[in-house]
Amino acid sequence: TKSPVTVTVTGAAGQIGYALLFRIASGALLGPDTPVKLNMLEIPQGVKAAEGTAMELNDCAFPLLQEINIFDDPNQAFEGANVGLLVGARPRTKGMERADLLAANGGIFGPQGKAINDHAADDIRVLVVGNPANTNALIAASAAPDVPASRFTAMMRLDHNRAIAQLAEKVGAPVADIKKMAVWGNHSADQYPDVSYATVAGKPAADLVDAAWLDEYFVPTVAKRGAAIIEARGASSAASAANAAIDHVYNWVNGTPEGDWVTAGVASDGSYGVPEGLVFGFPCTSNGGEWEIVQGLEISDATRAGIERNIKALEEERDAVRELGVL
Ligand code: NAI
Repeated sequence: TKSPVTVTVTGAAGQIGYALLFRIASGALLGPDTPVKLNMLEIPQGVKAAEGTAMELNDCAFPLLQEINIFDDPNQAFEGANVGLLVGARPRTKGMERADLLAANGGIFGPQGKAINDHAADDIRVLVVGNPANTNALIAASAAPDVPASRFTAMMRLDHNRAIAQLAEKVGAPVADIKKMAVWGNHSADQYPDVSYATVAGKPAADLVDAAWLDEYFVPTVAKRGAAIIEARGASSAASAANAAIDHVYNWVNGTPEGDWVTAGVASDGSYGVPEGLVFGFPCTSNGGEWEIVQGLEISDATRAGIERNIKALEEERDAVRELGVL
């Protein structure tokens, strides 16, 4: 066995937290040889519920789970953290303006970024799940000047997994046959799910589906899946979101499979014309430590338009938080 890894989960008493913590503790996040110390961060009103979840975690007698601590102070929660899963966020409530939403989340992700900067371990890797995830990751990264921006990522993996599931269903293939899916941009309805490079059992996916299905069904179904889940379930996606968070960190730490890639929201280095610093969904590989944006892909007109739409949306969010003085 390896030495224990400290994982900090914010919003630990929320519905994603409840779907996530047990899988972290079971070894799904880091692998079956890595013991885990869990730090749960909540707001004071959430601490009691987090304590209840901790009781259940204890009752699972997970062999890999070495410690559980509950905090309402980010400085304590991120002390020595190797992995940070930033799930807790301020949801948009009825009548709330975008500026208010961005300001409220700036008040969460700014201080958490600073706490990570000052207290986390040198190898800290952060995944922001709480929405607006891409911009929240940007806010946290800019509050952490001593941590490389590449360590702050946003969750695009649920969109990626949703896109794989839709394509698999359409062509009648097992999901395991589908490689090289990509979802460009923002975790929002602007995102551009893209089968341009995808293969199904080695055959180009673009040869198996027609353009009308892609434009009229695939793209909007993937992009609006969150709303469809709320409509059906009466609550937002939680288990699938937790699963995507597990997938993202597992691949980041343990690498992506040979001959495939995944989608991750990472700080742009200017690839594909995306302004440097924007946290953007790109096809990425990991060597088991750092994400690398897949280079050299040919970009069709439709993909270009999708990328541009997302640049615009994310620049607007970035400019709005700058104006609010959050960035
Ligand atoms: P939830 O409302 O059930 O739980 C959120 C928890 O965060 C609550 O327990 C709350 O007390 C806590 N919290 C709020 N502010 C906090 C702070 N400053 N520090 C620590 N904890 C804090 O929400 P749920 O369903 O678990 O979703 C969490 C977030 O994930 C939401 O922002 C949601 O929009 C987002 N999400 C993102 C997805 C993605 O693909 N990127 C997919 C699904 C959800």
